[in-house]
Amino acid sequence: MSTRLIGPLIGLGFCVVLLFSFVTGLFNFVSEPALPTAETEFHLEPEPLALSTNGPFGRFDRQQLQRGFQVYREVCSSCHGLTRVHFRDLAELGYSEAAVKKIAVDWAVQQPSVNAETGEPATRPGLPADPIPSPYPNEVAARAANNNAYPPDLSLIVKAREGAAPYVHSLLTGYRAQPPELLRQFPDAKSPKGLYYNPYFANLNIAMPAPLVADGQVGYEDGTPATIDQMSTDVAAFLVWTAEPKLETRKATGFASLIFLAIFTVLAWMSYKTIWAPVKHERDPLPAE
Ligand code: HEC
Repeated sequence: MSTRLIGPLIGLGFCVVLLFSFVTGLFNFVSEPALPTAETEFHLEPEPLALSTNGPFGRFDRQQLQRGFQVYREVCSSCHGLTRVHFRDLAELGYSEAAVKKIAVDWAVQQPSVNAETGEPATRPGLPADPIPSPYPNEVAARAANNNAYPPDLSLIVKAREGAAPYVHSLLTGYRAQPPELLRQFPDAKSPKGLYYNPYFANLNIAMPAPLVADGQVGYEDGTPATIDQMSTDVAAFLVWTAEPKLETRKATGFASLIFLAIFTVLAWMSYKTIWAPVKHERDPLPAE
């Protein structure tokens, strides 16, 4: 057989195999549809969340970021670290240098250090250059304190989860009793001990107990009424900032680039016209046949 035939024949073989597996897959899909599970029936997508950072001209609302930081400090920081953010970064939220120093010194978890006399491990109060620490020395200790679940570092959580800030907000406000309908359809789907029903969490049962449970749980310094919804929105906005502190620069740069490209396109088109104008007029007529 000529070698020129082998290539197409191999290709044809592949196509036949592909077609075969596609047809059998389609047949199975139609004849045996996947059984509904509690997750497929009761999982909810995050509700939309209006934040000042949304949209191409989005900017941070510094007042809101300060409130969100307050929620993080007073509630979330007892279980979650924020180790990619340093205390001095908080100056970007509008805190003065002295305020940042005070926040670092007063932080409930101290920084690891060494006793200069004995060389033994020790701790010392935080400095502005320190990262915002995890409350646990390591993952084993964190799991031991949380029913074997690991509270993730929150610095990048908004980027790490599909649904971003709206997901965080919906998760925090989404705790509820299991709907009777769910237990009727799936009697085995009762939340296991130590897990809490939350339809926004992928498998519906999360190991984090509802952290925001009462209006006024945080006493906002700026006097905003601290409803559960408000606290959840503020902390979600704050986590947008921790995950992307340069968001404003990125959006502004993007817009400036678009303006530049628009002007440049017009200039390029005009020079094209100018450069080719004489040539086009001189072109010989097509030879008549
Ligand atoms: C009592 C400890 C505790 C507190 C307080 C707490 N969390 Fe959690 N959090 C956890 C644990 C444990 C997990 C892991 C849950 C799991 O994997 O089932 C978690 C997971 C999360 C997740 C990730 C969910 C996912 O999709 O994997 C987010 C986001 C979160 N917490 C945000 C917060 C915020 C915001 C606060 C403060 C308002 C907070 N948490 C307060 C213990 C806590």
